[in-house]
Amino acid sequence: MKILVVLVLLGLHSAAAVIHSLKYIHTVSSQVPNFPEYVAVGMVDDVQIYHYDSNTTRVLPKQDWMNRLTEDNPEFWERDIDFFRGIQPLFKGYIETLKQRFNQTGDVHIFQWMVGCEWDDETGEVNGFRQVGYDGEDFLSWDVKTNTWIAPKQQAVITKNNWNNDNEQLAYLKYLLTQEIPDHLKKYLNYGRSSLMRTELPSVSLLQKTPSSPVSCFATGFYPNRVMMFWRKDGEELHEDVELGEILPNHDGSFQMSVDLNLSSVTPEDWRRYECVFQLSGVKDDIITKLDETAIQTNWSKTGDGGFPLGAVIGVVVVLLLLVVCIVGFFLWKNKKKGKEGFQPANTSDASSSSSSSSSSSSSSSTEVPVPDGNQPRSEEEVELQ
Ligand SMILES: *[C@@H]1O[C@H](CO)[C@@H](O)[C@H](O)[C@H]1NC(C)=O
Ligand SMILES: *[C@@H]1O[C@H](CO)[C@@H](O)[C@H](O)[C@H]1NC(C)=O
Ligand SMILES: *[C@@H]1O[C@H](CO)[C@@H](O)[C@H](O)[C@H]1NC(C)=O
Ligand SMILES: *[C@@H]1O[C@H](CO)[C@@H](O)[C@H](O)[C@H]1NC(C)=O
Repeated sequence: MKILVVLVLLGLHSAAAVIHSLKYIHTVSSQVPNFPEYVAVGMVDDVQIYHYDSNTTRVLPKQDWMNRLTEDNPEFWERDIDFFRGIQPLFKGYIETLKQRFNQTGDVHIFQWMVGCEWDDETGEVNGFRQVGYDGEDFLSWDVKTNTWIAPKQQAVITKNNWNNDNEQLAYLKYLLTQEIPDHLKKYLNYGRSSLMRTELPSVSLLQKTPSSPVSCFATGFYPNRVMMFWRKDGEELHEDVELGEILPNHDGSFQMSVDLNLSSVTPEDWRRYECVFQLSGVKDDIITKLDETAIQTNWSKTGDGGFPLGAVIGVVVVLLLLVVCIVGFFLWKNKKKGKEGFQPANTSDASSSSSSSSSSSSSSSTEVPVPDGNQPRSEEEVELQ
């Protein structure tokens, strides 16, 4: 977000370099209702590219270009499916270990691993990241600069020490995060170029739940997710009485976001001085929506008849969103990775999850084909949490 802010201030945002990202996310849960025990997803630029779960035991490509990639490489998922099947009991064992370490008795727990990288297509700079999360909080993360594990929690210290003493594993991790995963990302980008590099403008509307609620400027259907949204008064960006929402995925691969303005201290005559601004990276013209009472969609009747069933619409949107978010696993892990998300607002939630390393021989073959199994854990003993 900060980077984009700076670029926008400099008036450069239409020429901004693009930072692409790849994330492989693995989620194992116990006793979470209506959620498969194991879910693996891949995300390129925060767009889901595949989904696997322990209920279907099938890999579902989520983008047309992933279908093409699979058709061109029929063996593409074979090793991954073996891996996905093998990893679930291992991860479940981790949950048992961690329950003990945290003295927990409850049944509902979530363990996630994420591995991935960001790649700046202009400078070529690569930043790998790898994280382990438990019950929605960071448990272990990997510091790219020192090539060591960091334990934000006391319960992770034993694991951190052991992993940091495993030089072979650390060297592999470094290779994985600086070579193999960036290679995967570039290959995905090649296949998905026309889709991933597109820009789509949103529809922007003003919504208000009750006459005393803030007015929400709601943008949906945009792509990519490198955006800025804010309210301004007399041309000046407002920081007070404004609440910026998260960028959230729509089920069609586009994104949505909103920014709320609390109008309680604004007199009706002053309304026309306010406008909502939406800026999409790579697009010169901003979408500007003036604060106009007649343009606000509400679920109560301003005229005394009819009225717009906003509650119902919001309800449906929320249900769809939860569904999408659930499937992706986003909500499970609050994002605390400063700066790592590049352009996203700091409060964007994020999924987390996993992987590690298969033997280097198996991974070297994946330089031919962008198989996402460079993210495989090594043998059970090697990735023990002890
Ligand atoms: C997954 O399958 C199990 C057993 O077949 C079933 O009980 C559970 O409801 C399914 N979960 C989901 C999320 O579909
Ligand atoms: C768990 O219990 C042990 C022994 O009762 C105690 O030493 C430890 O501090 C507890 N850990 C936590 C996280 O509460
Ligand atoms: C809007 O602002 C008023 C006064 O500044 C405050 O009392 C109210 O709680 C705010 N509403 C929301 C939804 O934040
Ligand atoms: C409008 O919808 C909001 C949220 O669904 C609800 O809290 C509010 O009571 C509704 N207002 C009316 C007049 O129905």
